[in-house]
Amino acid sequence: MKSKSGKRIGIFGFGCVGQGLHDVLQENPHLEVAKICVKDREKLRTLPTDAFTYDPQELLQDTSIDLFAELISDPKEALLIVRQALEAGKTIVSANKKMISENLPELVALQEEFCGTLLYEAAVCGSIPILRTLEAYYGTEPLQEVSGILNGSSNYILTKLDAEGLSYEQALAEAQALGFAEADPTLDVGGYDALHKISLIAAHAFGALVKPEQVLRAGIQHISKKDINLAQVLGGRFRLVASAKINAHNRLELQVLPTLVFPDSELYYVEAEFNGVALHAKYAGSQFLKGRGAGSHPTGSAVWADVSAALAGYKYSYAKLPKEEEPVQLKIEGEDELQVYLRTPRPELLPQLPWLQLTSFGVDSRNAQLVGTILRKDLLAHLPALKQTAAFIAQLPSYISANQAVNASCQVLEELV
Ligand SMILES: NC(=O)c1ccc[n+]([C@@H]2O[C@H](COP(=O)([O-])OP(=O)(O)OC[C@H]3O[C@@H](n4cnc5c(N)ncnc54)[C@H](OP(=O)(O)O)[C@@H]3O)[C@@H](O)[C@H]2O)c1
Repeated sequence: MKSKSGKRIGIFGFGCVGQGLHDVLQENPHLEVAKICVKDREKLRTLPTDAFTYDPQELLQDTSIDLFAELISDPKEALLIVRQALEAGKTIVSANKKMISENLPELVALQEEFCGTLLYEAAVCGSIPILRTLEAYYGTEPLQEVSGILNGSSNYILTKLDAEGLSYEQALAEAQALGFAEADPTLDVGGYDALHKISLIAAHAFGALVKPEQVLRAGIQHISKKDINLAQVLGGRFRLVASAKINAHNRLELQVLPTLVFPDSELYYVEAEFNGVALHAKYAGSQFLKGRGAGSHPTGSAVWADVSAALAGYKYSYAKLPKEEEPVQLKIEGEDELQVYLRTPRPELLPQLPWLQLTSFGVDSRNAQLVGTILRKDLLAHLPALKQTAAFIAQLPSYISANQAVNASCQVLEELV
């Protein structure tokens, strides 16, 4: 179809997001789709064969194409595509959070050197315009914290465990059947996907280039009914919360941790596959954005918004990233204290940790629960050993005492008997 603007787009990928973008473009024919590059020659398609190519170069070297959308599921190939487009000074939008977060310094440098453009709103929270908000509105205002539920699959599972009493396995199977979780859910339930997203948020919100090992990360894969019931007795819910926060010493604290949230937090009300992001700015105060964090049309809509903005000449300013003449980076903090709840079915494997305070309870040969306070850097250092114990690890707000957790645990036991 001839477009109203006379502009042509080349699309890489025709899966969940690629098809979502294609649907949106069919209903809003401002752009002509040149071709769609896919991988599997045997797959049945909803479009005629001549709509597709299997050779990325057929798109990348077509000088009649004005911009590209990279929406494939292979991060290595996605990097090659984005790199080649930027080296040619082209405009490309992408949804690949893993690829972008792991290569951000290079991708920023390529844009500077060759004057190309890369936009990636769809990579963070699907339809929620968080990067554009950070760039366009908070480019100059200091932010104190950006935190939220950034992964729809794990939130769907946690919601089902809490609201319907499903087991983790049942909730995961349901999320997979509905297309909210991948066949291999590790990236989602292990907190890696949220880590990629909070890293991108940290770059735009605080100018920090984050290495994955600097982020305290634990997932939800070892949560049990015991943990869910404990949260309910305490009046809260576990949510997988990613946060980037400036502390009292002007250092950045980064984490992706299951966190006990209460009705006084907006995050308590983010349910199923939805995402929610809370922003706390120095002058503007607090704001909260909630919306669909994944899915074909919501993510396709975010890609379309980037495509339209890029055609109008929009680029990220990366206003908070340190410039070459001022290479001082925001330091990432490990000295702050965290209160954590931990339950492990392998108490015999628990490593010795430098707890500042520790209360153990529910200990028998098959189980141990504890509430402890520890320095972030110590938890970060011992996390690999803790993960060997198949522990569920979560942050507890400081206003919940260890005694309250012990009492709640006793109540859970009485209810289960
Ligand atoms: N799904 C979501 O809701 C969502 C939300 C935000 C961001 N994202 C991101 O968006 C991207 C796409 O996700 P998706 O869910 O749309 O994936 P998907 O449904 O699995 O589709 C992936 C597409 O990529 C194509 N592809 C894979 N490797 C390729 C290669 N080497 N060369 C050319 N094409 C290749 C596949 O080709 P075939 O069709 O031939 O198999 C398929 O069309 C990922 O980076 C994902 O993280 C997804």
